[in-house]
Amino acid sequence: MTSDVVTDREQRIRRALQHLRDETTDQVDDVVRFEATEFTDPDIAARERDLVFGAVPTIVAHSSELARTYDFKNVRLPRNQVLLTRQRDGGVKAFVNLCRHRGALLEDEACGKRRLFSCPYHRWSYDIDGSLRTITRGTTVGDLDPSGLGLIELPCEERHGFVWVVDRAGAQIDVAAWLGPQMDAILAGYGLEGLLCVRSESFAEPVNWKVMQDAFLDGYHIQYAHPNTAGKVIHTNVMAFEDLGDHCRFVAPRKSIDRWLEEDPGDRSLVDYVTETHWVGPNSTLLKQPDHFQLLTFRPHHQSPTHSVMEMRLIVPSAEAAGMDDAHWSRLWEKNWQILLDVLHSEDFPILRRSQEGLGSRSAGTMVLGRNEVANHLFRRTIQRLVAGRAESDEV
Ligand code: FES
Ligand SMILES: [Fe+2]
Repeated sequence: MTSDVVTDREQRIRRALQHLRDETTDQVDDVVRFEATEFTDPDIAARERDLVFGAVPTIVAHSSELARTYDFKNVRLPRNQVLLTRQRDGGVKAFVNLCRHRGALLEDEACGKRRLFSCPYHRWSYDIDGSLRTITRGTTVGDLDPSGLGLIELPCEERHGFVWVVDRAGAQIDVAAWLGPQMDAILAGYGLEGLLCVRSESFAEPVNWKVMQDAFLDGYHIQYAHPNTAGKVIHTNVMAFEDLGDHCRFVAPRKSIDRWLEEDPGDRSLVDYVTETHWVGPNSTLLKQPDHFQLLTFRPHHQSPTHSVMEMRLIVPSAEAAGMDDAHWSRLWEKNWQILLDVLHSEDFPILRRSQEGLGSRSAGTMVLGRNEVANHLFRRTIQRLVAGRAESDEV
């Protein structure tokens, strides 16, 4: 990490500390009013699937989830059922998980290892590079050129230890261009490609994906919704924020920073006294903790505006890199993971499910996003900008 990056981080932490002393926080210029239909309207949801997920790269896996050739992973994206495969040359490819014969779901397992994908319906088979290998009883099927019947490929790129996909065949992918020079440099500085995804889980919730994403950019709810967990550790409604275009980051002070409220910390590093949150647009929250990362990803359901899938990942240094024996390392992350699950299931999800029910009221009236909810404003701005675009067609 360069000294500029370190100085910059320390300055942002000091800005958060000053907010804490002054009982202030970063703010946007104006309050925004919004309608419940943003979270319930099927037409808006369809536009988001096409113009957000079908247009820009989103994270679909950590590279360590497909570590070796022949590893695969299934992922339901908003527009396509997707199969990721690790290639012989070390790259990753993404395909629509659908047999080109009569459209059976080619691979049913969530993840695993395959040298060949073999269709359960009439046993056509495909190589991991997507090419059609066998047409069973081919002479009876007729004259077909297998080269035109490979799996449909989706744009896929591996960068900063993540696999990114644009959920539309024929689209371009350029992750660096989407991230912009600042977020690209921030992620490059973390060395995420050298870490391991030690736990991951998907949660299908009856909640619009933006309601879900909003909750994980929100520093205003902590002491109220999490009084006995996060609220004890992290300060509420105090943020030093940076707008990075279609992305952002912010530091929030931990309660342990209180010892420096009166006393000048001087030049000492304050990194252990904050959590640093990154919003990697359009749908991911990356939390940097002192010794690991947590990635939260949100995707709309492929049809319903009121359902979504959240994925949570714990991304950590290997036992060897951390200088820990395997048993200690496993126990540490298992404990950490259980705490995270517990907070999600008992504190966040119930509130969010009930929010979605509330938003279904036909006379909901307008609601308000406060000036203090800075990251939520930026999320909303990015999605609105993308949704205002023009839909491209799928080229397959
Ligand atoms: S649908 Fe796959 S082989 Fe027939
Ligand atoms: Fe929360």
